[in-house]
Amino acid sequence: MPENILLEKRGRVALLTINRPDKLNALNIKTRQEMADALDELRNDDAVRVLVITGAGEKSFVAGADIAEFEGRTALQQRAVMHAKSVFTAAEAFPKPIIAMINGFCLGGGCELALSCDIRVASDKARFGQPEINLGIIPGGGGTQRLTRLVGEGKAMQMILTGEMIGAEEAYRLGLVNEVYPAAELEAKTMELANKIAEKSPIALAMAKASVKNAARMNLREGLDAEIDLFALCFSSEDKEEGVRAFLEKRKPEFKGR
Ligand code: COA
Repeated sequence: MPENILLEKRGRVALLTINRPDKLNALNIKTRQEMADALDELRNDDAVRVLVITGAGEKSFVAGADIAEFEGRTALQQRAVMHAKSVFTAAEAFPKPIIAMINGFCLGGGCELALSCDIRVASDKARFGQPEINLGIIPGGGGTQRLTRLVGEGKAMQMILTGEMIGAEEAYRLGLVNEVYPAAELEAKTMELANKIAEKSPIALAMAKASVKNAARMNLREGLDAEIDLFALCFSSEDKEEGVRAFLEKRKPEFKGR
């Protein structure tokens, strides 16, 4: 049984809660491992079509890597930790959409975790930052790359070089988060969004996610070619037949994921 995460299934949506509220849900090695294991399990669970990740308590999504684990750690040890099953890479490669439900501090590895998810929905109380520079280090979980791709070099540089936090409204203005809601509405609004996505064909969702992610990895020509292949691959599914038939019959499609 995992100790640092909670996993709940609500219909087609799974909710993974990082559960170390007394440490503001800081990601220690055990928590990362448990999250990576949970992603492995959920990947093969056909009943789950969308994953929502959040932090326990009212104060924090994730306040970063567990700084206590950094003390005395050597460069080689830290490199091995980062190369071990990475939860950031696992989230990005996960074949189902992941929504980060950001309920508070979203710092360092927490911001990098949110950046590895597909959609970010924040409470108006959320605070964002890459404060690693204050520890004499830099982001190592993708922050310099994914943040830069999302908000542009100038703003990413400012956040990473100053280590200063920004509020939810500014994060929205930068495009770092998709939506901001009053804290009391965050869960309901996020689940509404998750359920809306969960109604779609899981095959089309996986193809769409993979194709959008390709935009950050490939040049335009390669990305467009790959998109045609993924688009065509959707034509091999029963879901495509169902979607087209439902449109022509003027009814709601029922996608089976086949
Ligand atoms: N790693 C380990 N422990 C952390 C942590 C982290 N990233 N962030 C918070 N905690 C712990 C604190 O040490 C404290 O533990 P304690 O009660 O045993 O002393 C507990 O969580 C509560 O945090 P606290 O600092 O008392 O809360 P606060 O409201 O005063 O401040 C923050 C909140 C987020 C501003 C502050 O905790 C902070 O700066 N955290 C580190 C953020 C960071 O640098 N992240 C990047 C890491 S690479």
